[in-house]
Amino acid sequence: MDPLIAAALEVRENAHAPFSKFKVGAAVEDGTGRIHTGCNVENATYGLTVCAERVAIFKAISEGARRFRRVAVAADTGVLTPPCGACRQILWEFCGDVEIVLSNLHGKTETFRLAELFPRPFDASFL
Ligand code: THU
Repeated sequence: MDPLIAAALEVRENAHAPFSKFKVGAAVEDGTGRIHTGCNVENATYGLTVCAERVAIFKAISEGARRFRRVAVAADTGVLTPPCGACRQILWEFCGDVEIVLSNLHGKTETFRLAELFPRPFDASFL
């Protein structure tokens, strides 16, 4: 199995999702090949919940990683779970038009470019 998908599936098990019961794992491969992972972390306020993708990318940034090659997202759905709108914005900021691999627990995968999922983004080029 693709090690990036394996990492997303493995970290998904750490999800703190007592409210939605919807566990998500994400893994990002940086420019050196290192893999950084994250799971969703929910909060009783609901609104302070942080998605798996943002946990993974913020962990990576905090470790000093900068350029990113690929992002994998894993969830237990038949129609593969894509990053939410907020995560697409954050991924665009740090990864640009990166490859996004969606996967489920049964080996189904689909690959997109972020620009397909997030056309006409707002970014620093407008500032
Ligand atoms: N969630 C993610 O972590 N990533 C996604 O791509 C979609 C949604 C989380 C947020 C929340 O904890 C739960 O899934 C239900 O929305």
